[in-house]
Amino acid sequence: MRERWEELKEKALRELEEARDLQEMEEWRVTYLGRRGALTKILRSVGKLPPEERPQAGERANRVKRELTQAWEAKVEALKGRAIPPEERIDVTLPGRKPLLGTIHPVTRTLWEIYDIFAPLGFQVVEGPEVEWDRYNFELLNIPKDHPARDMFATLYVAPPYARSQEMMLRTHTSPVQIRTMERFCPEPIRVLIPGRCYRYESVDATHEWMFIQVEGLAVGQGITMADLKGVLTAFARQMFGEERKVRFRCDYFPFVEPGAEMAIDCIVCQGEGCRVCGYTGWLEILGAGMVHPEVLQNGGYDPGSYTGFAFGMGVERIAMLKHGIDDIRLFYSNDLRFLKQFS
Ligand code: DAH
Repeated sequence: MRERWEELKEKALRELEEARDLQEMEEWRVTYLGRRGALTKILRSVGKLPPEERPQAGERANRVKRELTQAWEAKVEALKGRAIPPEERIDVTLPGRKPLLGTIHPVTRTLWEIYDIFAPLGFQVVEGPEVEWDRYNFELLNIPKDHPARDMFATLYVAPPYARSQEMMLRTHTSPVQIRTMERFCPEPIRVLIPGRCYRYESVDATHEWMFIQVEGLAVGQGITMADLKGVLTAFARQMFGEERKVRFRCDYFPFVEPGAEMAIDCIVCQGEGCRVCGYTGWLEILGAGMVHPEVLQNGGYDPGSYTGFAFGMGVERIAMLKHGIDDIRLFYSNDLRFLKQFS
């Protein structure tokens, strides 16, 4: 009798060891501890023993039953918890973490709006390098080395100071890409927008950054006149800032255009009455423009005798600031999500 108990216990424990999941555990329980299981059967047979043997046999039977039950419970617990320590367990009832979705930067958004206005007029987008040669940034744009107009541009040169080379620089405007585009397209007509970063060695304040984005426009072809320039830019200003906008063109000087102009719209805040935003003038300057200088056309490979063109350039941050009433250019580049999220 005694051996039977031991044998049964060992067999049961061996099989319990092999059980790999809760289903196998359940099968094991039915086989050994169930109402028709092996243990119950033997327990019943205790009653048939001679009375003097019963207490001892009963006690042994109960002990084995307790041992097997405990072993089973322990393993079920382990399988359920997969032995994950409590501090690593996950509370699946917690609400999930929302993934952080980025938003489109307000300057990018404004650029896209500009593209959308010029695209139906036939303007495609091209780009050029941010590190530029003196030739393209100045020389071919009619700004020779000793030209006073160079004072307008506080240039960041790329060569170290001891090299005394001022041939390579971070471009100060997107205009050099006018030349690059003419070289690429000549003698085809051109209608392009040129977006990109520009750099100036300037102290930063509410209206100046040392890095900013410009978008340049260039149209070259036969028979293009100042009327085209005014028509295209007026259409742009009205779509961007409201159909009711008044526009104003005044003479201005840029070496790469002749005549050169500065374009303004009536103030979108005070409708021309005069307020802080427009400096009490009623007008907001939005861009520089002009008819491409014959020298510049020539430098790009076009014969100024039969080709003309117009060009314009604007600061994209300034357009975005006017449109959304932003009063500090530094907000665009300080990575403050409270600011950036307002443009989603
Ligand atoms: N490149 C000029 C600047 O950065 C802006 C400009 C003025 C561009 C007149 C033009 C233009 O294409 O015609 O200040």
